[in-house]
Amino acid sequence: MAKINPVSGYEPYLERVLISEAQLKGRVAELGAEISRDYAGLCPLLLCILRGGVMFLTDLMRSLSIPHHIDFMAVSSYGVGARVSSGSPRIVLDVNTDIAGRHVLLVEDIVDSGHTLDHVLRLLQTREPASLKVCVLLDKSERRVVDIPVAYRGFVIPDEFVFGYGLDVDELYRNLPFIGVLKQAYQ
Ligand code: PRP
Repeated sequence: MAKINPVSGYEPYLERVLISEAQLKGRVAELGAEISRDYAGLCPLLLCILRGGVMFLTDLMRSLSIPHHIDFMAVSSYGVGARVSSGSPRIVLDVNTDIAGRHVLLVEDIVDSGHTLDHVLRLLQTREPASLKVCVLLDKSERRVVDIPVAYRGFVIPDEFVFGYGLDVDELYRNLPFIGVLKQAYQ
């Protein structure tokens, strides 16, 4: 596998743009409108799973027309530098909010095998939220190992290594405003 140069721009590594900035904006706006309708009067807690979900969360927040709270969790699923899910996620940072009786909406960048969300859902359910649902931007549905109830889904994507808009390649390029596919030589 060819190496990523950490001081280079993303261009040498980009195979193609999979989802453009305009497509992301349009879909996030649609999701925001749908969530605003469904959670009207409920002041949901948007619970973002770090780090990949951050850019999606901040755009989603701006597209919501209803009052809401935010909080964060960090789950280590791939291990530092690893690119394949270990299948045994670990909570690195727990949520700081008492979620008992709250309407919790988990916000994630991507669901792949489903191990991460399955682990988080099981843990949070024990804390008796009023409701617990999942909002993911990207769904690599063909890779699913564990079934996950996804209430809000941005895009179903093929089984390709994607980066940008919160998702990284070796911790780089999370800032890109689009979702790109990594060239095969670097996968
Ligand atoms: C990614 C993503 C999900 C998880 C999905 O996290 O943000 O949390 O993998 O994979 P799964 O469905 O197979 O469990 P990653 O470990 O890459 O961390 P990051 O969000 O900090 O980039």
